[in-house]
Amino acid sequence: MKTKEDFIESVLYTEEQIAERVKELSAQITSDYKNITKPLLTVGILNGAVVFYTDLVRNLRIPVHFDFMIASSYDANTQSSGKVNILKNLDNDPRGRDILLVEDIIDSGTTMNYLINYFKEKGATSVKVASLLDKPSRRKIDVKVDYIGFEVPDEFIVGYGLDFAQHYRNLPYLGILKRSVYSK
Ligand code: IMP
Ligand code: MG
Repeated sequence: MKTKEDFIESVLYTEEQIAERVKELSAQITSDYKNITKPLLTVGILNGAVVFYTDLVRNLRIPVHFDFMIASSYDANTQSSGKVNILKNLDNDPRGRDILLVEDIIDSGTTMNYLINYFKEKGATSVKVASLLDKPSRRKIDVKVDYIGFEVPDEFIVGYGLDFAQHYRNLPYLGILKRSVYSK
């Protein structure tokens, strides 16, 4: 069996640090949406955001509805293709809804920029973004991220939902992937 030391360069945030930060974000979101009249439509971007999503929504103290999308701008490597495809769309009609997009990481900004515009065109009342991680040094398109868990350096991050070629999503912490894993 491989151990953590074989693929993780260093741990960025522990399970406890993530839990504390996610609770802070939930409290902030609860406060910001306390006067909403219709349930907040929380849209998790599969697969990466799923772990963050479940922890975040569990701590919201406002009415919410669940929905999910699959949007892909990535292949099985670490380079963004720059093109966004919706592989699974919402089950709800976004028209007239307050939408909170829940994402794992904003990197080039391509995916989130596309999704924000998509929901505005579909007639959403409001569109906000909660992202566990933000990697601002890699931004190609300027996007407004309303709620950010942690700002991270230009490294490849895995764990707590984030993958490298589908691996490591179930790690309870956030770690920097060793370069030797992906630059063979
Ligand atoms: P963007 O469209 O370039 O902002 O890419 C966002 C998507 O790229 C995220 O939803 C992730 O799936 C993926 N991604 C970007 N950076 C990382 C990383 O460091 N680790 C894991 N996935 C990443
Ligand atoms: Mg993703």
